[in-house]
Amino acid sequence: MDRNRRAEKASSRPGEKTGTSAQLQKLDRATGRISLAVFFLLSASAPARADAPMAYTVGFGARNFPVVNLLWALLIVSLLVILIVTGLVIAGVLRPRDVPRSTDPRLVPLERPERGLAWIYIGTAISAAVLVGAAIWTFSTLAAVSGPPRDAKVKIHVIGHQWWWEVRYDSDDTSRIFTTANEIHIPAGEPVRVELSSVDVIHSFWVPQLSGKTDLIPGQRNDTWIEADRPGTYRGQCGEYCGLQHAHMALAVIAEQPAQFQSWWTHQLEGPPASQTETVAAGETNFIAKCGICHAVRGTTAGGRLGPDLSHLMTRQTIAAGTLPNTPGYLSGWIADPQHIKPGNLMPLLDLSGAQLAAIRQFLENLK
Ligand code: CUA
Repeated sequence: MDRNRRAEKASSRPGEKTGTSAQLQKLDRATGRISLAVFFLLSASAPARADAPMAYTVGFGARNFPVVNLLWALLIVSLLVILIVTGLVIAGVLRPRDVPRSTDPRLVPLERPERGLAWIYIGTAISAAVLVGAAIWTFSTLAAVSGPPRDAKVKIHVIGHQWWWEVRYDSDDTSRIFTTANEIHIPAGEPVRVELSSVDVIHSFWVPQLSGKTDLIPGQRNDTWIEADRPGTYRGQCGEYCGLQHAHMALAVIAEQPAQFQSWWTHQLEGPPASQTETVAAGETNFIAKCGICHAVRGTTAGGRLGPDLSHLMTRQTIAAGTLPNTPGYLSGWIADPQHIKPGNLMPLLDLSGAQLAAIRQFLENLK
């Protein structure tokens, strides 16, 4: 661990002199990186989750535990197979020959001793047993995760867009249905049904620490479910190449205590606070005129459905589907020139004056 930390420190500050020779430092960094990678692979601790958010070798919740167990078992079996086969090949090459070597390489001995065949029979039998065992375990895992262990109280509908996620929260009480984007809040310790569809091309819903991938296919509804056994933020990513900005189609699943989740839901249903200043009021007018064709904000006349719903935008950690942190500076930069940040996305370059941009940003900052 000490060495890890030292190596991590060294590699996080490129160019810094630590008194050792450059070569030693390089070697130290390389071994540091390798041991860090091994550390992440073997570790299931919370800090590792934060540092390697896409690590699928750790699972949280009933949906992913059986899958992660199977993954580790198959990984270990595969490594054992490599070790055993490599050992046998080396032993076979090095062992003394039963038949004297011919002086002419084209001559092959016609009679070979037969006792070596036992190796083939034993090897085939062991491989067959392991493969059948792996197949049975795989099928039973598939069956175990095919549906939630108990009825899911929360049902959401995730709709794929190039390149963001529309998220609709379903409810029997129609006044509690609402839409948000890119960040999915769920109650910790409870299964959540996720219905998946797409409006354009095939995307794939993938939150590695909570579940495997399920595709979002235009004209079809797919079903999956997720469960997080503890509160936390679980990063997700579109898992199917869907065009230029596929890599910038991230999402976050935020698991909270059930009570906290319910108050988040209730808060999402509310409209924005009344504009306190003239700038914010001007920002709202400008937002409705310039952005409201594509974006919606509950409680205003902005009701566009082409782009993400921006109600309560300030409760989200990122903007542009996980591309940028949600800070005033990045928000301004994004509105000013979205094509520079995420080329090819559908948000056009708006002809805004500096004052209009500032007013719109202040209106958005009010959406808490
Ligand atoms: Cu959506 Cu890749």
